Amino acid sequence: MTPLTAHSALEPAGPLASQILRLFWLYFDVSALVFTLVIAVLGLALGRKAEAGSERSEPSSSAQRGKRRVVIGATVATALTLLGLLVASVATGHAMAQLPASAPLRVQVIAHKWWWEFRYSVSGRATQFSTAYELHVPVGQPVELQLVATDVIHSFWVPSLSGKRDAIPGKHNVLLIRADRPGSYEGACAEYCGTEHANMRFLVIAEAKAQFAAWREHQLDPAPAPQTPLEQRGFQLFASSRCAACHTISGTDAFATVGPDLSHLASRTRLAMGTLANDPSHLQRWLEDPQRDKPGVQMPSTPLSADDQRALVAYLRSLR
Ligand code: CUA
Repeated sequence: MTPLTAHSALEPAGPLASQILRLFWLYFDVSALVFTLVIAVLGLALGRKAEAGSERSEPSSSAQRGKRRVVIGATVATALTLLGLLVASVATGHAMAQLPASAPLRVQVIAHKWWWEFRYSVSGRATQFSTAYELHVPVGQPVELQLVATDVIHSFWVPSLSGKRDAIPGKHNVLLIRADRPGSYEGACAEYCGTEHANMRFLVIAEAKAQFAAWREHQLDPAPAPQTPLEQRGFQLFASSRCAACHTISGTDAFATVGPDLSHLASRTRLAMGTLANDPSHLQRWLEDPQRDKPGVQMPSTPLSADDQRALVAYLRSLR
């Protein structure tokens, strides 16, 4: 199991997030300095005003010239500070666009209401696979994410790895990421997209190249066939019920793409885009009534007898 990293832009794990963090601290330091100066000058002015008391006299012409110099000086200093920050911001954006030195891995990221689909094409093989919730990437290699949306505007954001980028229906956006440390990095949808916007989470799992290659090979395999009589019954239920109208399980007749691909469901760490742990009791709870944990979700409840439910859970749990 890879170590879990918090969802934090202050703990960058790659070059893009590091550049954004450097820019953040520059803005923070300059703003803190300006704030301190303004408060100090304000304090000084209030002190002088108190000293002068309530006497009202016409200011001398030299005092007026002094004031004018202060106003002009402050205006020039403000303009130069803002220009400096603008240059730093543009330079950071430019540096971030220069990243991919080596050939990037390309992954299609498809945003749906309310889940993330990650589609991998394997070069040299006329095949691809699709997964949900977990985006696996090799450590140290740039990854080009090709972002699209099927319904409304969403936004892909992994604070530890990069800035956010919108996924827009009918438009192809690209975001580069690179993770230089192995780990699991939390991501979220960063554009309000409806009821379950807050539960549209995902995980970027950065792992060593060999580990990533093994994971990809396994995902390319067809789903394991049901072994025990209980799993076989579960498979029959899946195939004959409305489950198969929305989901894909590779190697079977279920190839619908309304909901996530379930071919290797049990290999994922969480269910319902991070809402529930991926274990038998939560899977059963989810199948019984998805609206209970994710109100508004498009998945309908599955009214089954207790025995049938056990069989369906056993089959889905066998999809390693
Ligand atoms: Cu998708 Cu917010």
